[in-house]
Amino acid sequence: MQFPDYRPRRLRKNENLRRLVRETIISIDNIVYPLFVVGGKDVKKPIASMPGHFQMSVDILVKEAREAKATGILALLLFGIPDKKDERASGAYAKDGIIQQAVRGIKDTVPEILVITDVCLCEYTSHGHCGIVENGNVLNVLNDASLELLAKTALSQAQAGADMVAPSAMMDGQVAAIREALDENALGDIPIMAYCAKYASAFYGPFREAAESAPQFGDRKAYQMDPANADEAIREISLDVAEGADIIMVKPALPYLDIIYRAKQEFDLPLAAYNVSGEYSMIKAAAQAGWLDEEKTMFETLTAIKRAGADIIITYWAKEAARLLNK
Ligand code: PBG
Repeated sequence: MQFPDYRPRRLRKNENLRRLVRETIISIDNIVYPLFVVGGKDVKKPIASMPGHFQMSVDILVKEAREAKATGILALLLFGIPDKKDERASGAYAKDGIIQQAVRGIKDTVPEILVITDVCLCEYTSHGHCGIVENGNVLNVLNDASLELLAKTALSQAQAGADMVAPSAMMDGQVAAIREALDENALGDIPIMAYCAKYASAFYGPFREAAESAPQFGDRKAYQMDPANADEAIREISLDVAEGADIIMVKPALPYLDIIYRAKQEFDLPLAAYNVSGEYSMIKAAAQAGWLDEEKTMFETLTAIKRAGADIIITYWAKEAARLLNK
């Protein structure tokens, strides 16, 4: 039997050799840590479906931000749960809204950490949809009327001190509307990380418990993408790039690695992938049952997302990853 000279196994013999030729390296620099903020004081309420995660009041959140920074995490992504919800999501753009308070709290005490804010209405609307709904009809989520409120929301977050805004409502034209509102208010330096290709995914289940944002009727299929479509993701991203997105995003991550790969090939902007709540919770649950090794599964997952082409990974494992990377 004749073997070719090249034998890949020669470079797998020990860990140093494997590290020497490793192509994909996870760095804490590219990881974003998502957090949920609620009103009140001294609140740290566990989120049952996302072990290790909590709804936190601003005082606790600030401590968490300080700890995150100490582990080497550079960026947080904030989601707010307002005390009161209404039809026009007024808590999203209130000057003393929950996110605005959270941003100011963090910026006052840990100014170096990057604060990214989610720009959406679903946590703030009484019906739980991401835009204004007419006559209780989800097919009538009013795109253009919602744009105005999304722009107001992003603007008030940036005015509170957010370093970057991340629109996730999947309304057409949201990036342009937000870019215009920021530019007109001397906030031209604030970048936009756009959830360009966001799918109508069942993997958001645990998040909706965490953010108390499950739609009260219908679903999000009239504005989020059909999981069956890939070319459409490219069209969605192209539009957001034309509207001024600084960072593009694909979400979820694991079931959409092909979309991440294509996005990386076709666009030359920094690409983020959101390793969403369901991707986290299913591995957590399996680990708790003793069926999977959580550390190894987590690293394999993050590596797969990066290998597919993501420059930035938003993940609920941020703190654990930081801890392990520091070892
Ligand atoms: C808000 C938003 C959602 C997520 C991020 N921003 C939920 C949704 O669209 O229902 C999901 C994140 C996750 O599952 O971790 N629109």
